[in-house]
Amino acid sequence: MNNLIDIMQLSTEEIQQLIDTALDIIDKPDKYADSCKRKKLATLFFEPSTRTRLSFEAAMYELGGNVLGFSEAKSSSASKGESVSDTVRAVSCYADIIAMRHPKEGAPLVASRAASVPVINAGDGGHYHPTQTLADLLTIYREKGTFNNLTVGLCGDLQFGRTVHSLISAMSRYKGVKFVLISPEELKVPRYIITDVIEANGIEYKEVTSLEDSIPELDVLYMTRVQKERFVNEAEYQRLKDTYILDTDKLRDARADMIVMHPLPRVNEISVSVDDDPRACYFKQVLNGKYMRMALILKLLEVTV
Ligand code: NCD
Repeated sequence: MNNLIDIMQLSTEEIQQLIDTALDIIDKPDKYADSCKRKKLATLFFEPSTRTRLSFEAAMYELGGNVLGFSEAKSSSASKGESVSDTVRAVSCYADIIAMRHPKEGAPLVASRAASVPVINAGDGGHYHPTQTLADLLTIYREKGTFNNLTVGLCGDLQFGRTVHSLISAMSRYKGVKFVLISPEELKVPRYIITDVIEANGIEYKEVTSLEDSIPELDVLYMTRVQKERFVNEAEYQRLKDTYILDTDKLRDARADMIVMHPLPRVNEISVSVDDDPRACYFKQVLNGKYMRMALILKLLEVTV
């Protein structure tokens, strides 16, 4: 079965093919307009979402397909105690492909074992978010023209930020990549990402606490929000939430060709005054996410155009 649970399931060639398809869709959208006619995508969102769910839906509509699903656990039979496995077995009877977001790490993997149609992980707890990474990769590719020899700064909640974990996993395969991991002590990248991904690939990295000191050396600055919903202690969240705020002052020390990324939603970590800076790419990421999800749906449904 074709699934996308972890970005590492995709080879470097497959990532490049998805990027090439997305670029072709951008260039010739009409060619793809009926490619998924009569196909149905189910969006099973047990956790809140704006971009991910709506971009999956927009992607399927732009491929000529249809969409069904739910946007909160309480409007599904999960609220009656149904297991994820039973839910997706049922949904497999109605839909050709499933995109699932769930607060529990591993839930989409469990779902993929029970489903008889492809399952896409649209975010599982503080673990992974591979389709955000596809959006991020297309953005880096379009803005920087390469994945090689980039110094990538990741800033904010690196512990719970699932987009960070998937992006590090994906970027670790490219030559000459360096990571600058900028976080408070309490929100550092989980050890398994450091040992199994960064060190296992012999990637140069450093863990630091200062955004100001790091910014001049970066090609990419990936800001993230502190993940309120993953904290057990509200006071701890309040203490850490505004640790980093990127503003036009701090950007003055950045390279002229550095790009600022953010998976969104933003809270306070990027001042709105940064939005007008040509280096701000976070709204481009949103659009790129739709194109990459279109390319992914075509791949998983094995549709050739
Ligand atoms: C991210 C997520 O859900 O992990 N949002 C998204 O899908 N673009 C980031 C976040 O919620 O902070």
